[in-house]
Amino acid sequence: MERLDKAIGSQTNYSRKDIKDLVKKKQVLVNGEIVLKSDIKVDVEKDNIVVLGEELAFKKYVYLMLNKPKGYVSATEDKSDKTVLDLVSEKYRHRNLFPAGRLDKDTTGLMIITDDGEFAHNILSPKKHISKTYNVTIDIDMNEDMVLGFRNGVNLLDGECKSAVLEITGKHTGTVILTEGRYHQIKRMFGCFGAKVVELERIKMGNFSLPNDLELGMCREFTEEELKQVRS
Ligand code: URA
Repeated sequence: MERLDKAIGSQTNYSRKDIKDLVKKKQVLVNGEIVLKSDIKVDVEKDNIVVLGEELAFKKYVYLMLNKPKGYVSATEDKSDKTVLDLVSEKYRHRNLFPAGRLDKDTTGLMIITDDGEFAHNILSPKKHISKTYNVTIDIDMNEDMVLGFRNGVNLLDGECKSAVLEITGKHTGTVILTEGRYHQIKRMFGCFGAKVVELERIKMGNFSLPNDLELGMCREFTEEELKQVRS
C-alpha cells in the first residue's frame, strides 16, 4: 500500500499540490468513489484509480519506440544538441527515461527509449545476440570483398568485429546485420574498404521491424507482442 498522491505522482506529471487541488475539485476516484483526501493509502495492483476521467495504468516501466530523425543525439541531455528525449511526449517526462543504445546524430530509424535498465542491458549485450539491422548507402560501389570481409570479421582499431552480414541491395546500397554495437561501427567497417557511409537507417532490432506508419520523429509505446519480437 502507498499514499494516493505518491502513486499518482509516479505515473503522471502532477505534483503533490496539483493532486491535492484535483482531490478538492472531486476529480480523483478510487474504485468508483470520489476521494476526499490525497494521502489515503491505495494498492496500485488492485485499486482502480481515475484522475480527470482517465484511468491510471500503473506501469512499472515504459518501452517506447522512436523513429529517430537526423540532428538528434542519443543522450538524455546535451549542452548544444537536441536529444532523442526531446521527441518524447510530455506525459512520460516524469520517468527516468534513456535511450537503449546509441545511434549517431546523422543516423535515422528505430530507437528504443525506456526506464528499464535490465531490459536495455539485455538487448544491447553482445552475449544475448540480439541483432540490429540497418539500411546503408555508401559513396562507392558495393562489392563482394565487403560482403566477405564483414562475414569474416573486419579488424578495427579497438579489435576484430564479430561476424556481420552484408547483403548488397543496389549499386551503392545494402543491408547490414550486427550483433554488437560499437562506436560508429558500420561507418568504420566500410571505412576499411575505402567507403564512406552517406545514409544509415536502423530498420530492425531482434525480430521487430520499424513500423511503416511510425513517421520520422514519432514515438509510441511497444505492445507486449512487439516487445517479445525485440527480445527474440
Ligand atoms: N553504426 C554506425 O556507424 N552508426 C550508427 O549510428 C549505428 C551503427
